[in-house]
Amino acid sequence: MFNVQPTAGFVWINPRDFHATLKIQVRFKKLDLNMYEAYFNNRFTNTLVFYVVLLLLILVSPFLFVWEIVNSVRSCFLHKENMSGKVVLITGASSGLGELMAYEYAKLGAYLAIIARKKPESRLEQVAHRARELGSPDVLFMYADVSNVNECRMIVDNTVERFGRLDHLVCNAGISPLYSINNDVTKFEPVIDINFWGSVYPTHFAIPHLMKTNGKIIVNSSAAGVLNPPRGGLYSASKAALISFYESLRFEVSPRITITILTLGYIQTNIITAKYSSNGVGIRLRKDMKDVVPTMEAEPCVKAVVDGICEGATSITEPRFIKVLFLIKYLFPQLHQFFFNMYFPSKNRN
Ligand SMILES: NC(=O)c1ccc[n+]([C@@H]2O[C@H](COP(=O)([O-])OP(=O)(O)OC[C@H]3O[C@@H](n4cnc5c(N)ncnc54)[C@H](OP(=O)(O)O)[C@@H]3O)[C@@H](O)[C@H]2O)c1
Repeated sequence: MFNVQPTAGFVWINPRDFHATLKIQVRFKKLDLNMYEAYFNNRFTNTLVFYVVLLLLILVSPFLFVWEIVNSVRSCFLHKENMSGKVVLITGASSGLGELMAYEYAKLGAYLAIIARKKPESRLEQVAHRARELGSPDVLFMYADVSNVNECRMIVDNTVERFGRLDHLVCNAGISPLYSINNDVTKFEPVIDINFWGSVYPTHFAIPHLMKTNGKIIVNSSAAGVLNPPRGGLYSASKAALISFYESLRFEVSPRITITILTLGYIQTNIITAKYSSNGVGIRLRKDMKDVVPTMEAEPCVKAVVDGICEGATSITEPRFIKVLFLIKYLFPQLHQFFFNMYFPSKNRN
């Protein structure tokens, strides 16, 4: 038998009786679980549990709020990773956020490997040139399609061959055609191939190298992956899949590798302009998104993102108010629907 001592409402069990302790814990847990399950089986008590937990959350939220502020202030003084001489591989760097991230890393003195598809109008070479001017000691630019597994293996291998190491992998390449039930669904396969597999493939090949350098993986998901705006169905699904994949991968690779998931709102790049919106498939916007919904300029966004990455953030949302929308989506789904019906430019879609 084992030694049980009641102390201030708790039962203290001699740690030597470890197996017996475990058995008792399992029994208690079973008892608790049965009790909770009983609540869930009744419609009224099921709802009641939700409101009680919500109320508790509201009660503790002032403390969480202060904690969030303290952390934000603390992050301003945190030791930032020194990127000088480090090696960064960025996919989708011929324009928009990927291009600006290349410049931001270049200013910090990092070696760069930048990727985009081979197209006559590609600006990848100019981006490489500008990044060198801004301070990168060497820039390797490679044409590759991230939806092709062999090309992803090649870009990682070539980067390590050229620079001898890999410190940050930025999975940024993506497309965002708008989908409607009237479109031919088979034309949308590239959305998942580029947005999802185009991040997972390079990640898979980069992990052994990032393990050696205690490196970072940065994945450019989207606020759409959480908020699911209208007509964004397939795009949002591809971005939600990224969040699920990388949140799960984190358990396997941390603490050796830090994963930073970006959930950005509308940022002023090609992707939200009417001119580029359909990408040859799906619905074309009639107006630039920035003329109808609040958007953030790309440069301050990218500056905040790269700062956050170097401070070791595991998730970054810009503009920051989007985080409140995430809360609203889960806590008050009707309000979330109302918001999108009000603000999403349905009149500006074909
Ligand atoms: N702007 C926003 O509002 C916003 C918000 C949330 C998330 N994001 C995400 O941010 C990422 C960058 O978007 P952006 O706004 O900067 O748009 P962008 O200017 O259109 O940039 C997209 C980049 O991805 C590259 N790319 C596309 N398909 C590729 C493929 N198969 N293989 C290799 N590269 C490919 C493009 O280069 P080529 O076409 O030359 O190959 C381009 O460099 C995307 O993943 C997007 O979903 C954007």
